Amino acid sequence: MVDFNFFITSNYRKLTHKKTFTFSAPSNIALVKYWGKKDNQIPANPSLSFTLSNCKTITSLTFTAKETKGISFDLLFEGQPKESFRPKIQKYFERILPYCPYIEDYHFTIDTQNTFPHSSGIASSASGMAAISANIIALEKELVSDKDENYFLQKASFLARLGSGSACRSIKGEMVVWGKTESIANSSDAYGIEFDYEVHPNFKNYQDSILLVDKGEKQVSSTVGHELMFGHPFAEQRFAQAHENIAKLKAIFASGDLTEFIKIVESEALTLHAMMMTSMPYFILMKPNTLEIINAIWKFRNETQVPVCFTLDAGANVHVLYPESVKTQVLDFIANELSQYCQNNQYINDFVGNGVEDLTQ
Ligand code: PMV
Repeated sequence: MVDFNFFITSNYRKLTHKKTFTFSAPSNIALVKYWGKKDNQIPANPSLSFTLSNCKTITSLTFTAKETKGISFDLLFEGQPKESFRPKIQKYFERILPYCPYIEDYHFTIDTQNTFPHSSGIASSASGMAAISANIIALEKELVSDKDENYFLQKASFLARLGSGSACRSIKGEMVVWGKTESIANSSDAYGIEFDYEVHPNFKNYQDSILLVDKGEKQVSSTVGHELMFGHPFAEQRFAQAHENIAKLKAIFASGDLTEFIKIVESEALTLHAMMMTSMPYFILMKPNTLEIINAIWKFRNETQVPVCFTLDAGANVHVLYPESVKTQVLDFIANELSQYCQNNQYINDFVGNGVEDLTQ
């Protein structure tokens, strides 16, 4: 059991000057999927992800000391007020308050922007919650003197998790494990940790092209989806399988076996969607073009032996994953055969990256 009290900051200074921090945080793509959560954003099963590079949120946080205590902030999106984001940030501040009581001493101005198109259907909650948490931790670093860098990294991930579960995997790179599991030493339900085992060169700089199949609003929020895993007839087997798949991936990352990698990754994606299709109520997030793309990838892989595979999020978009060594072939394949299945032929080429970056001037 995780002792959350470890992250409560009780002795801290109060600053009187005004200051602005700026941090960017990337999105991440899960290879082993988190689906099902307990109270306080605790995952029902462990997950493992690649941190991305290009798809990121850049957030500036300006703090000004105030006399009266309480949560107080202004929210801007690309420099303009954005009231529709308020409830999410309000809830985030309320959740982190017990661990960061100092936030009541300041008024915050938060200005945020994404590098990917707003209407792309790419969830910005992971990168967004990781970016704001990195800013909060930068403030905390100025207020306390008895903590080390490792503590701050863990706490940044812990706070991001309180905003949006999978966001805790966007603080660090290149691969992150979140959720206590036997095969990964020091893994925790409370925060993500860097995958710190042998990684074969095949997996260095792995590529992820995100095919934008459907940019519409999700018909089922991930919060509702997670809840539907409770009372789900296949939940226990699924949770056990996630532990097994992480252990298998650990061995695959060391050996460089791309055939086995593909089997786990595609099976995880389809299992995630199978859980949605077999919950009550049941739902389908894939679109006809999602299936067209999957079939085209399978055909291409069979014919060419190029080790390209897919994974899916809780939506219709397809992440096409492949080693850097086959980049030219796969990019041609995407442009010539897969882009026709994307809305406005749109896709985003990304690759594995390192997590949060400090852009403070
Ligand atoms: O972080 P949430 O609550 O939006 O859940 C994300 C769940 C999946 O993207 C479907 C899987 C994952 O592990 O990222």
